[in-house]
Amino acid sequence: MSNNTKQAEEALKQSAAKMNKRYRLGYHIMAPANWINDPNGLIQFNGEYHVFYQHHPYDENWGPMHWGHVKSRDLVHWEHCPIALAPGDACDLDGCFSGSAVDNNGELTLIYTGHQYIDQPNNIFSQNQNVAVSTDGIHFTKLKENPVIAEPPTDSSQHFRDPKVWKNEDTWYMILGNSTKEDLPRVILYSSPDLKTWTYQGVLLQGDKSMGFMWECPDFFELNGKHIFMFSPQGINARGDKYNNLFQTGYYVGEYNYERNEYIHGEFLELDNGHDFYAVQTFLDDQGRRIAMGWMDMWESDMPTKGDGWCGAMTIPRVITLDENNKMLMNPVEEMKLLRQSKHVLYQKGTIRESYFENVEADLLEVKVVFDLTKSTADLVGLKLRGTGQEETVITYSIPDQKLKLNCSKSGKKTDGVRQTAFKTEGQLTLQIFLDRSSIEIFANEGQATMTSRIYTSEKLLGIEVITEGGDVYVNGLTCWELNDIWQQEKSAP
Ligand code: FRU
Repeated sequence: MSNNTKQAEEALKQSAAKMNKRYRLGYHIMAPANWINDPNGLIQFNGEYHVFYQHHPYDENWGPMHWGHVKSRDLVHWEHCPIALAPGDACDLDGCFSGSAVDNNGELTLIYTGHQYIDQPNNIFSQNQNVAVSTDGIHFTKLKENPVIAEPPTDSSQHFRDPKVWKNEDTWYMILGNSTKEDLPRVILYSSPDLKTWTYQGVLLQGDKSMGFMWECPDFFELNGKHIFMFSPQGINARGDKYNNLFQTGYYVGEYNYERNEYIHGEFLELDNGHDFYAVQTFLDDQGRRIAMGWMDMWESDMPTKGDGWCGAMTIPRVITLDENNKMLMNPVEEMKLLRQSKHVLYQKGTIRESYFENVEADLLEVKVVFDLTKSTADLVGLKLRGTGQEETVITYSIPDQKLKLNCSKSGKKTDGVRQTAFKTEGQLTLQIFLDRSSIEIFANEGQATMTSRIYTSEKLLGIEVITEGGDVYVNGLTCWELNDIWQQEKSAP
């Protein structure tokens, strides 16, 4: 372990001991204390799942970026590992920014951006690309050849970051988030025979101003024979219900030609319509599943846990697939069922008028409800969670408007509580919801829409209420499961 890493571990221990745990999550990835943002280097290596993340171990605010690290055998029970990367070397003086991981013949290889300030108050910086390797999957050594890409192409702005690396046939490819000197967003491509010597191949895709000024955290992969480009554009203006967060993560579905480095694609679609979902990355596991995970926060969101000594978490892992219209669906990985404890069948089948409330004394919950809209007369159906009245989190579906809405105005979010999205369904509306102490993740109709937000209710407000407006609703089952707290040890630690 380097001195920088050791020092960071020590600081983290001290912060963890002082943390206020009221909003600590029960089954999401968080750092032991202090700040985290993007997921990095998602990979399955020697049978274990690894997640790294952007981390500032010294403070609850963003700062010199380290790579934190957790691993798991089953994608749901995670254990903390020592900090994998600390900044401060000549190649990454002021930060080890986001990047990816590959298994290079049994060597777990991290590819990340080194960040150096030139003029910090004016945010003028330089960025380069670096490699660190490990054989045990825990301790990493930065290559002496770093930086492996020292500077961006000459027509580039200073933004040059977030390498995603993959292998096609015998060649390694890397894409990077970038922009032109004129601030047009783009993603650029490099190739390499050995992960050390990289050759610039040109622009893979460039957007116009309507697509923002910079594309962060690009990802590129095949799904169902299509090529998906997933990215987190900065600077797209809100339009109606779309692009309401400061930045968003979305994707194109298209066809890529390696020889011509040419990508033809369809329209940009947002991947999730909640408040807190960003910088998503994916990886392929040994079952052939494409699994995505995002940062379950957003720059400029309310972050009340900063006052508690920590900030930031990952979403639950989600399997992504394409439906027959090439729309991407996200669903919780099957393994989430391993967290299920006692099951409560709250309502079997029948018509509910006005409202129906069940008290459930648990704050870590999976809830599943099926509304049969063909047998309902209501205009609006939904669920209230985490309280009813002064504090509540409300999910509704408006049948005439065909809109799914998450209202967190009374969930401890000070501003901007509502998110909604166009959502068509004429038959059944199934909502699968994962509630943790300070988060909600909604999967509607098997991932046709998802909404992810952090919520901060002030007390232990529990219970589930079915609500309707303008008629009644036919409920075809309302079930919930109490979920296991995988960080129980943390709770009981002195
Ligand atoms: C995205 C991002 C990345 C960068 C990292 C820094 O949230 O801005 O582009 O590498 O965070 O922490």
